[in-house]
Formats: sequence, structure tokens, C-alpha cells
Amino acid sequence: MTQAELRQAMVETCRQMNSTGINQGTAGNLSVRSGDGFLITPSSLPYDQMGPDDLVEMDFDGSYGGRRPSSEWRFHRDILKNRTDIDVVLHCHSVYATTLACHHREIPAFHYMVGVAGGTTIRCADYATFGTQALSDAALKALKGRLACLLGQHGQISLGRTLDQALWLAIEVETLSRLYVQALPLGDPPVLPDEEMARVIEQMKRMSYGQGPEPEGSNDIARPRG
Ligand code: 13P
Repeated sequence: MTQAELRQAMVETCRQMNSTGINQGTAGNLSVRSGDGFLITPSSLPYDQMGPDDLVEMDFDGSYGGRRPSSEWRFHRDILKNRTDIDVVLHCHSVYATTLACHHREIPAFHYMVGVAGGTTIRCADYATFGTQALSDAALKALKGRLACLLGQHGQISLGRTLDQALWLAIEVETLSRLYVQALPLGDPPVLPDEEMARVIEQMKRMSYGQGPEPEGSNDIARPRG
């Protein structure tokens, strides 16, 4: 993908963040690894007014060219630097995930899809002021071995190899949060045992579960013809 194509794809993902309802107003930000650094959304510019040229080029030392980068550039930088298994960082204040984050509730394995974030829980990072190194440190800790986390009294972060994967995961985290918020008034829902979640996670990895219809990954029940 050329830089111009990547910028256009980022703009489209940002618009999808709004149209799918996981983001609104000037909340949220997005970054993608590019060259020796990364591209990141500018601060405080609504996505319906943002074009490809508004995206900011940043280096891992925090230097940048163009508009003022997202106030959350530190956690984008630190996650991209530390997590070579992903290339995209998506942050939003989706309503149900943020509802749980306001209570510092992590999401347990009340539903097998919690495994899409890579573990038996989706953790909630400790609260720290937006834009600070403390928030970045807390986010990295909550993301250890995971592809998503909640941010205490703030929102959620979802990671992916591609823009589509990160967006898909952010929507899944929001859906799981909504289910959990709806399940809680009926009493604490039962949690799947660790052995079952280990099976679920292994099966998800093998099947590239939810990661698109491409042939990558195998399905031991159905076989393609021929
Ligand atoms: P920016 O507009 O600076 O990216 O901030 C939005 C946000 O969600 C802060 O956490």
C-alpha cells in the first residue's frame, strides 16, 4: 500500500468508527505503523472534516510534521514500539465499553468471544489523565498478551495487524461490553473455565476466527472442494 492509499484507508476507517456508532464528536484516535514511524490522526478534528492530508507523520522519538497530533500520541507510540505483532492502534469512547470502564470492571469470560482479545479477560487499565505517560504505561500493562483493553473512566483500545482487524475488534469489544452490561442486572453471569477458554483461543488462532474470509487459517470441520 502506498502512503497515499494508507492515508485514504485511515480516513475511511475513521468515518466507519463514527458510522458504526463506536465513536462520536472529537473523541477517538487512530494510528498505523508506516516507514520508520507511524501516521496518526490529528487532535480535535472531527472525522467528517478530516482529509488524508490532515493525518500526522510521527517518529518514535515524538517528533512530527504537519498538524498537531492526537493528544494520545504517547500510547500510540509506545504500543506500536512495544507490540511488533500489530500495526494499528484504535482508541474510542464506545458507550458500553466506557460504561464498564467507568466502574473499572474488566470483562471476564462470560461469553466465549472474550477470547478474540487473546485471553480469559479483557482487562481495564488504571485511570490516568488523558495524554500522559502514566496513561500510556497503564494501557501497555493492560494490553500485555491481549489485543484490546478498557481504559479506566475513559474508553477502550483495540489493536490489529490491519485497519479492518482493529475496527472489527473494537466493534466486538463494544458488543461484548453491551452484552455484559445487559447480563449483569440478572446477577453475575457464570464464567467459562480457563481450560475451555484455552481451547477457544487455540481454535480462534487456528481458524483466524473473525479475521476475514481469506484462506489463512484452517477449519477442521469443513473442507474446501477439490
Ligand atoms: P484527540 O482529539 O487529541 O485525539 O483526543 C481524543 C481522545 O479521545 C483523547 O483520549
